[in-house]
Parts: sequence; C-alpha cells; structure tokens
Amino acid sequence: MLSSTATVLAFAPGRVNLIGEHTDYNQGLALPFAIDRGVSVRAQPIAASCVRANALDMHEHDEFPLSAIEPADGWRAYVRGVAAELGSAGIELRGTSLEISGEVPQGSGLSSSAALEVALALALCAVAGQENPDRVELAELCVRVENDWADAQTGLLDQLASLCGEEGSALRIDFRSLEVETVPLALDGNRLVTLDSGEEHSNADSGYNQRRAECAQACEELGIQSLRDATPDTVDDLPDPLRRRARHVLQENERVEQTVAALRAGDVERVGEFLDASHASLRDLYEVSTDAVEAAVARLREAGAIGARVVGGGFGGSVLGLLPEAAETPTGAVEVRPGPGASVRAP
Ligand code: GLA
Repeated sequence: MLSSTATVLAFAPGRVNLIGEHTDYNQGLALPFAIDRGVSVRAQPIAASCVRANALDMHEHDEFPLSAIEPADGWRAYVRGVAAELGSAGIELRGTSLEISGEVPQGSGLSSSAALEVALALALCAVAGQENPDRVELAELCVRVENDWADAQTGLLDQLASLCGEEGSALRIDFRSLEVETVPLALDGNRLVTLDSGEEHSNADSGYNQRRAECAQACEELGIQSLRDATPDTVDDLPDPLRRRARHVLQENERVEQTVAALRAGDVERVGEFLDASHASLRDLYEVSTDAVEAAVARLREAGAIGARVVGGGFGGSVLGLLPEAAETPTGAVEVRPGPGASVRAP
C-alpha cells in the first residue's frame, strides 16, 4: 500500500508488435509484447492545485492548473491530456510534481507515446490514492488522449500491450472482446531484434489517420460495423484502394492466429514466414512502408533474418527481425525480449 503523501515511481514499457498490424482499430487481432525499455514518471504531491512537469531528457518544463487544462503540443499534450481525461473520468487529482524520463526513442515506432501516457496515468492515479485502476479502462482513457489531445486516431494496441505485458510472453489480443491471452514466446535459440529505419514516425502527421478513415469508409460501403465482420468475398467488390486495405486486415487477422499456432507448435521457421508475409502486405496492400523501411528490412534479411517486417503504424519507425542463433546482430539493431507490463511503486 502506497502512502498518499509519498513519492511514487511509475514505469510503463514500450511495445513490439510481433504480428497483427493495423488490425486493432478494425476490431481484429494482434500479438504484441511489452519490451524492457519504457518511460518512468516520478510523482510527488504538492500543495498547489496544479501539475508541474519536467521532461528530464529534453530539459523542458510545463505547468498548468488542474481547474482549467488547455491543450498543448509535443510531450505536453500527453501530460495535459492524461490529467484532463482522468479528471473527466471522475478521479480527483491532487496537485502533483512530475519528473519524466524515457528510454524509448520518440518516433521509433515502439510506442513512446503510449508508454508516456500509461506511466503518467498510473503515477497521477497513485498520487490521487487510486492504486489499482482497471487496466482496460485505463488503456481506453490513454487512447482518448491520443485521439483528442494528440490528433492521432490510434487504437488500443500500444496501451494494452504496455499495461498487460507479461515476462516471456506475447499477448494475443482480440480487439472486439478485449480479451488478452498470453502466448509464451519460445524462439528456440532464435532472437528478435529491432532496427530503427532512421525515419521518424508520427501517427498524427503520417498517413495513419487516412488509413483509419479508409477502413471506416470500407465498412460504410459494406454496411458493417467493423472489418472483423467482413469476408474475403465481400471485400472483393470494394473499389481500390479500399479493397486492398480490407484484404490486408482480413489476412493479417488470419496470420495472427497462424502465428499463435506456430509458436505453440514450436515452429519458428513458420513464424518467420508470417512476419515476411505481413511485411509484404503492409507494403503492397496497406501501403505504409517507405524506402527507409525497405532498406532496414533488407539489412536484416542480409544479416540472415528468418523473417522481417515494419512494426507499428509504419511510414518510418522501426523494423523487426527474427534472427537465427548463428547470425550476427547488424550494427544499430537491438535485441528485444518480452518484459512485464506497467507498474507503480514507492521509489
Ligand atoms: C500504431 C497505433 C496502434 C496500431 C498500430 C498499427 O502503433 O498506435 O494503435 O494501430 O499503429 O498496428
């Protein structure tokens, strides 16, 4: 039990999505895992009725009153958005000082923004005496921050992965039922690495919102609620590019199930094949790859990757590779392993 006057330390991890890309906002399936790098927030109650936030890595500061929270840009949008959304959700926030530091590079496609939101939300809740908020509700609240405060129409993938991560396992998430199932990530000596394409990725400023709008339009034309209700036959009648977008989503859902089955059967070669197929689909059907992403994927394949693909929203960011034991890790690539989900504790 944390004392309500004490300092708390919240940590929220970034995530890697093994497979199931651009499926979350289509009520589909994905298989992400939390990584060991993330964002830490140290929070302390203060006497004033405001939030004072320091972004330590950037040497920047923000301060705003709890009674009237105005929008802002950059990292400040997330701090203000989380505080405002917690207030709207009925949590009585206290004046708090926040120190934020992170190890997930921004724009790397490993969900630095979700890690920031989740760590902030857990820290502010703990200072307000709410130590065990419902994790799904908290993920939904953080997504409202992305959507309404940071202009990115993202789904629940990153926040649920950060909040529900389990050491050693990926999470099969069904975004229709919001059921989360752990799938042990036993790779039989092979390892997963990420490699930054060097091109900064941003969900708000890329084609991400457009892709989401295209999926909504496909649903409208098909007269269905979400692409989870579509079938291969019905999407064939859609005009291009909606047909290709919908095909990607249907096939990607299928690949998530096949990857879960391959992992359970210990068939790592098959997992690699699904990663490659996912990348081809994201490049050709969903069109979220770029030259820099292709170059990074090519580097991983040259290093002997069994499979490689763009991760996250695309349009830059990181790529993921499955490397055999004997392969050397290419310069700049970092090994990623499934780690525990977000937590809050006394420092
Ligand atoms: C970004 C978004 C997620 C998800 C992925 C694509 O990471 O934040 O909600 O849509 O892109 O799978």
